[in-house]
Amino acid sequence: LKPVTVHSLQKQYADKVPITMLTAHNYPSALIAQEAGVDIILVGDSLAMVSLGMADTSEVTLDEMVVHARAVARAAARSFTIGDLPMGSYEISPKQALASAIRMVKEGRMQAVKLEGGQEMAETIHKITSSGIPVCGHVGLTPQRQHALGGFKVQGNTVGKALSLLRDAQAVQDAGAFCIVLECVPQDIAEVVTQALKVPTIGIGAGNKTSGQVLVQIDMLGTRPPDAFMPKFVKKYGDEWTSSLNGIKQYKEEVTSRAYPAPEHNYKSDPKVTEALKA
Ligand code: KIV
Ligand code: NA
Repeated sequence: LKPVTVHSLQKQYADKVPITMLTAHNYPSALIAQEAGVDIILVGDSLAMVSLGMADTSEVTLDEMVVHARAVARAAARSFTIGDLPMGSYEISPKQALASAIRMVKEGRMQAVKLEGGQEMAETIHKITSSGIPVCGHVGLTPQRQHALGGFKVQGNTVGKALSLLRDAQAVQDAGAFCIVLECVPQDIAEVVTQALKVPTIGIGAGNKTSGQVLVQIDMLGTRPPDAFMPKFVKKYGDEWTSSLNGIKQYKEEVTSRAYPAPEHNYKSDPKVTEALKA
């Protein structure tokens, strides 16, 4: 299988074959996503909550993102890789954003970066893409702006808001983004935005008319505890929590009962050595 590139993604989009994007936050989760044939692996700043236990994405730093990105990159030779620029690493100026994007490529070993925002980020996206680093946009629900948005809710549901969403997506495309994540947008609006663009849209909570889909791996595999908050759009394709919990419970039981380790796990000694030691 050939590695996924910006060009192969453009061809896939032109051929109308939906693009599969999935997050990974470490070496094994990237390895398994690639093995499953995922086109794009995203080192999302969802890392903050689902892997680092932080309250929201605003806490994770570029230094932390880079460490996880590098682990993912070691596994992902075939999937295309995108690293999120975390809050605070790109908003101050296009120059700051470019410096952070360069770190994500040089140290994080990512092939592209993703940043949140619309028209107000156009100059920044242009700065990064014109320096040779592909950018994935992110409009609609932009979790880094949760306090300004008043929480996590569906976006673009009035005529005014839908129009500004469309203008944002177009501005991000015109600034040079090669794809755009559309988060938490009603399906019909996501479809109109998708039709209006010449670059692929990757939806999350945006219906099935976008050019591709993205999910957080830890959410879709059911790795989080059953009482963890899960957005409406997440489909659970696995129950990692239950299977891991059962495995660890059994381990604990077998340690307690001395059922583990069993003979097949043991190293053999030379009986003479044991005898000499006992004597
Ligand atoms: O951080 C993340 O995982 C993301 C995806 C949900 C799009 O940005
Ligand atoms: Na993100």
